[in-house]
Amino acid sequence: LAKSKSAYFCQSCGYESAKWLGRCPSCNQWNTFVEEVVEKSAAKVPSWKSDSGTSRASKPTRVDNIQSISEERVLSGDQELDRVLGGGIVAGSVILIGGEPGIGKSTLMLQLALNIPGKKILYISGEESEQQIKMRAERITNSPKAECYILTETSTQNIFKQIESLEPDMIIVDSIQTLHSAHIESTPGSVSQIRECTAELLKFAKETDTPVFLIGHITKDGTIAGPKILEHMVDTVLQFEGDRHHVYRILRSIKNRFGAAAELGIYAMHGNGLRQVSNPSEILLSQRDEELSGIAISATLEGARPMLIETQALVSAAAYGTPQRSSNGFDTKRMNMLLAVLEKRCGFRLSTRDVFLNIAGGIKVEDPAIDLAILVAIISSHEDIFISSKICFAAEVGLSGEIRAVNRIEQRISEAEKLGFERIFISNYNLKGLVRDKFKIEITAVSKIEDVFSLLF
Ligand code: TYD
Ligand code: MG
Repeated sequence: LAKSKSAYFCQSCGYESAKWLGRCPSCNQWNTFVEEVVEKSAAKVPSWKSDSGTSRASKPTRVDNIQSISEERVLSGDQELDRVLGGGIVAGSVILIGGEPGIGKSTLMLQLALNIPGKKILYISGEESEQQIKMRAERITNSPKAECYILTETSTQNIFKQIESLEPDMIIVDSIQTLHSAHIESTPGSVSQIRECTAELLKFAKETDTPVFLIGHITKDGTIAGPKILEHMVDTVLQFEGDRHHVYRILRSIKNRFGAAAELGIYAMHGNGLRQVSNPSEILLSQRDEELSGIAISATLEGARPMLIETQALVSAAAYGTPQRSSNGFDTKRMNMLLAVLEKRCGFRLSTRDVFLNIAGGIKVEDPAIDLAILVAIISSHEDIFISSKICFAAEVGLSGEIRAVNRIEQRISEAEKLGFERIFISNYNLKGLVRDKFKIEITAVSKIEDVFSLLF
C-alpha cells in the first residue's frame, strides 16, 4: 500500500509544516497543528475545465498593448452592499463574506439571490436543506425578482457539473467550509480542502466572468481554519459583524481589489430579513430628554460615511482590589491608554475606579476620532456633570494629551450640522484650510486635553 503524503497545517492561519509543532511560528497560536493528506488522489477527476494538454503557456505582453476593459459591474439592488463593494458586483470577482455563526450571513446572501432583477442565480448550500432554505426565502420575500436556484451539494466536481448545465449569472456558496474536492483527501473544512475548493472556484470565476460569493465562518477562538488563508486568495473580503442580540449589523469591507477598503454598510435584522439602514446617525443617537452624565457624542467616519455615535461611560468606585475595565465596541487597550493620559496629564485619580465603556447600537468603531468623545464621557461620569446633547466631538487624543487632527473634518462638521448639533470640538490642527464661515454650527478648536475640560467642566 503506497503511503500517502501528508503535512501539518495550522488550523488558525494555514501555516504548513512537515512535522507537528506545538506552537505555530506564524501566528503564535498553541496546539493548532493537524495532519492532513495533501497528495492529490491518483484517479483523475475533472475539476473546472481541468487543464488537460491543450493549455498554452502565457507570454509576457507589453503593458500598452494590453486591451483595457472597463470593469463590468452588476448592481445588486441592495444599496448598502453595492456601496461596500465599491459600486456593484464586478464580473468574475470572488467575494468572501466572513462572520460569526448566527450573525445573518445566509440571510444576507439569500436576500441578495432573490432580489437581483432578471438574473439567474445559483445558491449552493452545504449547511441547510432545500426546505429550510425555502422557509427562509418565504420569510424574506414572497415575490422574488431573480431566477434563483438552490443546490444542496458539497462536492465541487458535482457542483461544476450543475453549473455547466445551468449557466448561472452568479454563484453563492454557503459555506466554503462545507465543500470538498475529490482532488484532496482530507476532510471538508481542513486547510488544504478550503484552499483547493477556493482555487477551483477562483479559476471558474475568472474564466467565465461569473461573480462568486463565498460564505466563511469564523469562531471567536479562531479554531476553524479558513477566512485567514482565504483572504489572500479572493478579490474582496467583507466582514459581517454586530452583536447577535442587537438588531443592527455592519457589513465592512476589509480588502477590496475593486474599491475602497473600510467601506461600511448598515442593516437592521427584522423578522422578515435584513433591512438597509440609510440614515445611521438617527438610530445611533438615543433619544433622551433627561440630563444624564457619562454620555458624549462623536462625529465619526466609517469608510466614507459620517455617523454620529453616542459613547457612554460609567466610572464608579472599585468594589474590589483590582478595578474593572471593560469596553464594548471600542478597543480596550486604547481605552486603557486614554485613562493613563487622564491620570498623568489631568490628574484624575482613576486607578481606583471601575470604568465601563459602551458604544451605542452594538457597533464597533475603529475611527480614532472617537477618542475625544470617549475621554469626555469618562470625565462626565467621573464628575457627574452632564454634557449638552447639542455638542459633539471629533478628534484623536495623543499620548501627551494633545488633541490631534483627523481626516475629512468638513464632512464630519456638515453631518453634525445637518443633524442639528450646535457645537463641535475639533483639533486646532484641523483649522488649516477649513472655511469656518461655511458652517452655522459653532466650531471650537482645541489643542490640549486641559482646554477641553476648562471649557466644559
Ligand atoms: P443566519 O443567516 O442563519 O446566520 P448565519 O448564516 O450567519 O449563521 O441568521 C441568523 C439569525 O437571524 C437567526 O437567529 C434568525 C435570524 N433571522 C431573523 O431575525 N429574521 C429573518 O428574517 C431571518 C431569515 C433570520
Ligand atoms: Mg448560515
